[in-house]
Amino acid sequence: MAFKLTWIGHATLALETNGYHVLVDPYISQNPTASADPAAIAADYILVTHGHGDHLGDTIEIAKRTCAMVIANFEICNWLEKKGIKVHSQHLGGGFHHPFGYLKLTLALHGSALPDGSYGGNPAGFLLPTHTGEKIYMAGDTGLFGDMQLIGEEGITLAVIPIGDNYTMGPDDALRAVKLLTPEHVIPIHYSTWGLIAQDPHAWAARVQAETDAQVHVLAPGEGFIYP
Ligand code: NI
Ligand code: MN
Repeated sequence: MAFKLTWIGHATLALETNGYHVLVDPYISQNPTASADPAAIAADYILVTHGHGDHLGDTIEIAKRTCAMVIANFEICNWLEKKGIKVHSQHLGGGFHHPFGYLKLTLALHGSALPDGSYGGNPAGFLLPTHTGEKIYMAGDTGLFGDMQLIGEEGITLAVIPIGDNYTMGPDDALRAVKLLTPEHVIPIHYSTWGLIAQDPHAWAARVQAETDAQVHVLAPGEGFIYP
């Protein structure tokens, strides 16, 4: 197994790769669709795309319990470090060789204010080549942008993208994103957590399958995608 990616619900992902548990945007205790116990979930690293509450989520509690290192932009890391959290800050376009893989922060078009109103810097996505060479792109909260084509040139194995609309790309723009990213596999997230972002992922999957070569995997919360 090169990696296993479990959708916890909303934008929360639990990635297992190279023997590490990498938790992304751990919004669990307040998440109406979450499928995990924040007091028990494993984490060696926690990646945070931006400062909004539905992404920062339970980061502080989980990091304190597990001693996980949090990786995010410089501003979010500074804020977390003052709360006693172990951090590694990066920024857009920058990559670093972590034990679980070479993680690069990518552009995202969104906001990033922290829950207390502190400045959270620029929102990010993540590009992660695994130890076995697959490339996972987690877009974070974002609108559509043309430079997704540049990210696609990296050769994406799996793209995890929002389809919920209102706060992020909706189904139409997410379909255009797939055309720019040209991934082998796609997992839609950030939808139907609340009525405001209700979407039919199966209808979206049918459109993507009809118009692109990507294979869409509509997961239930708690369900994992194992590659290969
Ligand atoms: Ni957000
Ligand atoms: Mn969000």
